[in-house]
Amino acid sequence: MNVLLAGGAGYIGSHTAVELLNSGHDVVIADNYSNSCPEAVRRVEELTGKTVRVYEADVRDHDAVRRIFTENKIDCVIHFAGLKAVGESVEKPVMYYRNNIDTTLTLLECMAEAGVKRIVFSSSATVYGEENEPPYTEEMPRGTCSNPYGWTKAMMEQILEDAAHADPALSVILLRYFNPIGAHASGRIGEDPQGIPNNLMPYVSQVAVGRRDHLTVFGDDYPTPDGTGLRDYIHVVDLAIGHVKAVEYAENHTGAEVFNLGTGTPYSVLEIVNTFRETNQIDVPYEIGPRRAGDLPSSYADAKKAEKILGWKAERNLADMCRDTWKWQSGNPMGYREG
Ligand code: NAD
Ligand code: WQD
Repeated sequence: MNVLLAGGAGYIGSHTAVELLNSGHDVVIADNYSNSCPEAVRRVEELTGKTVRVYEADVRDHDAVRRIFTENKIDCVIHFAGLKAVGESVEKPVMYYRNNIDTTLTLLECMAEAGVKRIVFSSSATVYGEENEPPYTEEMPRGTCSNPYGWTKAMMEQILEDAAHADPALSVILLRYFNPIGAHASGRIGEDPQGIPNNLMPYVSQVAVGRRDHLTVFGDDYPTPDGTGLRDYIHVVDLAIGHVKAVEYAENHTGAEVFNLGTGTPYSVLEIVNTFRETNQIDVPYEIGPRRAGDLPSSYADAKKAEKILGWKAERNLADMCRDTWKWQSGNPMGYREG
């Protein structure tokens, strides 16, 4: 299939591009580089030996997206294009609603004009909210989100479900990611956050490489075995392969369907730090600090549905995730800026 990756120069999009190309699919990328850079796409081409058609475009811009659909016969869209920093979304909610909802509406409108009938969407475990208890299953109702970023995901799921309801020929696949970490095993592409990282693994790896002094562990008094938060960390390459399976499933599918993409196994913050240290033989100094507002004690998937229906299961373990993160971070201490 010929797949349009909206936001495809980013962390998950670039890894997905590699797996799609390696599986024999063609890829077109549209990105405004608001949180990424062209070098990531250049490295996708280097890793796969294939050429990617890239448009520097804001996916909210109808004319730009129309042009992409006119110049390419697109079979399926994967919609990664969004702002994703939880704290920033609390400070700038309107910017988050404007960017994340508008990209979705523009893509749906332009897909309808061009007769494109398949869309795979980057949703998040955050839509399970505070009411549901892990392990989360896909049929649980969406819960109350603790921040505007989470609400954009919940709203976009609703918009996409409504679109599928109105057009019986449409296939909508909502992929609820848990906590993606790691990097391509080559160390050539990986996560490159701008400024101070919000997420645990980029922070750990920047401490290890000397860009940050120490990690602050956000709370050790949760009702968990070691008191620190539990999450379902998933290797980004496993996640990327999940997208290949979703795109292939969408080929003969209509309606809206949700899949969790997680491993089903939770690890604590201290288990992450200790596995990173042991796997990479490098110190990660840390201090225990207060809880971070809005954090849940525990979040992990019931991952059975994706295995049963998509034939997909995460294969990489926590040591793989820590090793590949370090290969990327140690080879690219300043991210793509040195490349
Ligand atoms: P990322 O920031 O690396 O990638 C998003 C890409 O979208 C970036 O390249 C950015 O430049 C682009 N973009 C943003 N707004 C755009 C616009 N208006 N027009 C064109 N391009 C635009 O983030 P990621 O980690 O790769 O996440 C991809 C998607 O998955 C996002 O929608 C994110 O919310 C979702 N998600 C991520 C995680 C995670 O932990 N990384 C978890 C759950 C869901
Ligand atoms: C993981 C654990 C922290 C940083 C967020 C979004 C979610 C999804 C993925 C993306 C928690 C602890 C973290 C640090 C720490 N979104 N931690 N010190 O919060 O599960 O999920 O990212 O688009 O929607 O909410 O991920 O990596 O921030 O935190 O102790 O410096 O690490 O408290 O227990 P989270 P995270």
